[in-house]
Amino acid sequence: MCGIVGYIGHREAYPIVIKGLKRLEYRGYDSAGIVLYDGKDLKLSKTKGKVSDLEEKSSKEISTNGTIGMGHTRWATHGVPNDVNSHPHLSNSGNLAIIHNGIIENYEPLKKELINRGYTFKSDTDTEVLVNLIEDVQKKDNLKLGKAVQIALNQVIGAYAICVFDKQKPDEIVVARLGSPLAIGIGKDEFFIASDATPFIEYTSNAIYLEDEEMAIVRLHKPLKIRKIKDDSLVDPYIQELQMNLEQIEKGGYDHFMMKEIYEQPNVIKDTYRGRLHANEGLIRMAGIEDNIDKFTNAKRIVIIACGTSWHAGLVAEYIFEEFARIPVEVEYASEFRYRNPIINKDDVIIAISQSGETADTLAAIKLAKENGAFVFGVCNVVGSSISRETHAGAYTHAGPEIGVASTKAFTTQITVLTMIALRLAKAKGTLSNSDFHRYLQELEIIPEKVAEALKTNDKAKEIAAVFKDATNFLYLGRGYNFPVALEGALKLKEISYIHAEGYPAAEMKHGPIALIDEQMPVVVIAPKQGHYDKVVSNIQEIKSRSGKIIAIVTKGDTQVRDLADYVIEIPDAADAMSPLLTTIPLQLLSYHIAVMRECNVDQPRNLAKSVTVE
Ligand code: F6R
Repeated sequence: MCGIVGYIGHREAYPIVIKGLKRLEYRGYDSAGIVLYDGKDLKLSKTKGKVSDLEEKSSKEISTNGTIGMGHTRWATHGVPNDVNSHPHLSNSGNLAIIHNGIIENYEPLKKELINRGYTFKSDTDTEVLVNLIEDVQKKDNLKLGKAVQIALNQVIGAYAICVFDKQKPDEIVVARLGSPLAIGIGKDEFFIASDATPFIEYTSNAIYLEDEEMAIVRLHKPLKIRKIKDDSLVDPYIQELQMNLEQIEKGGYDHFMMKEIYEQPNVIKDTYRGRLHANEGLIRMAGIEDNIDKFTNAKRIVIIACGTSWHAGLVAEYIFEEFARIPVEVEYASEFRYRNPIINKDDVIIAISQSGETADTLAAIKLAKENGAFVFGVCNVVGSSISRETHAGAYTHAGPEIGVASTKAFTTQITVLTMIALRLAKAKGTLSNSDFHRYLQELEIIPEKVAEALKTNDKAKEIAAVFKDATNFLYLGRGYNFPVALEGALKLKEISYIHAEGYPAAEMKHGPIALIDEQMPVVVIAPKQGHYDKVVSNIQEIKSRSGKIIAIVTKGDTQVRDLADYVIEIPDAADAMSPLLTTIPLQLLSYHIAVMRECNVDQPRNLAKSVTVE
């Protein structure tokens, strides 16, 4: 959570920082701030609200074409979102400025000590404590900024990606990371610092991603030196070439990133399986799996750890792995797994799923699993992310940047990767017949065309959205492979439209939720032909006899459910195991339209952030 941007070079810093903050706004958007160095002094502007509010305020408050600047877009952890708690924060002397993404857990005792030493605080934040701690260390022994930051960070417990600037030494920015991402873009006589590479892709394609417990002094006209925070040892910088382009991170004519990303799904699913799925040759080739095939085939069980939508993709994978590869699977919320002393065996394979690759709970769960000797495989979207580096091996989803806070294309591409893994393991273990194996490969290969077909339900979804946009509750029901889709459909609706929604396995309805059903309750039932169709039809009957309003997702040509449901949305026929890739599409569209009609901020729903780097 929180996005940080810094620039030091020969261009005007202000527009670079503001544009960078807009690109990072998905990471948090309850307040924002900027500090610029005008050659003599620090110019600070910050405000509650979005980067556009900051742009308006700062354009009145500061005018400098200074070439050094830092900005922050915040997702509040300590202290309510207001102007004062917004970053950047200045030290008591006014010499140091800091921006911070993360949490300083021991900020209270540090703050008390600093107060005893005469420091005063304007904000309620942990970050203001950190900048004053750095100043205190610096003053005590008349240290250079880099050294002071290092000593201060060694006293800190928590997570951080920070940029610190000292106006007394205005040719450098000191950066450090532990647990929160930090990328440094390297240009000609200029450096860019950001939470991810999107703020600087039009300026440079060379970037260094700091690892945990590393810091760097980003100094003009000097090669970048990276050091370990703990022992000051030098680290060889690894410069990566960025694969991203500008078009990928712009809206491309859509009103919202979410809609753009929904419509990208046919293409990105193809990108996900390109070079890996060879249906004609009857092959699946994924380097991370081939290199570790024995670990997977000998696994006594697979434990999937993830959060949110990624956890739902894990649930779909549970059904697919057990069916195809006959390996027992457990799916765990990373946040629960990491704190419940789980039993982890050496012959367990852990699969960690994360779009951002930065989710703090998933990262911590991975570390725990590794400490206990398990092999950990990552399924991430963001290349070079912390989780992709922390895992022993992995497979990227290749969905491209997902900027809308509500996850859409990440979900379907995660399922695609996991389906390919399950099929590859089924082949290795001989748990699927040859003909089924080939049939599934072919089915997966044509899924993008079917997803494109499913996207044609947009008008229907919009029409249904208009009917139910003012509902206060929704129920989503599905069985088998489509039970996790019901959970995901409900999550999509509640997070962007703020309507309470619950997903349930359809048969569980009669064990409680059925009490909720009356003529006011819209119930979305996922009822494709290939699933437990007859059973779901019975569940629909149960809803109908209690006057619930039924919105059914059915296979094209279905007549039985059409007779029972109030509204039907038709999707193409597909094998049961592949159906989540299709059934999820109209649910994404339905929540999108409901949220738009309720005038909600679709891409940046309240209280949320794209990358949850705090636990
Ligand atoms: C929901 C959503 C979140 C994320 C969750 C995990 O639309 O986006 O529930 O799925 O925060 O994030 P990642 O996948 O980045 O670990």
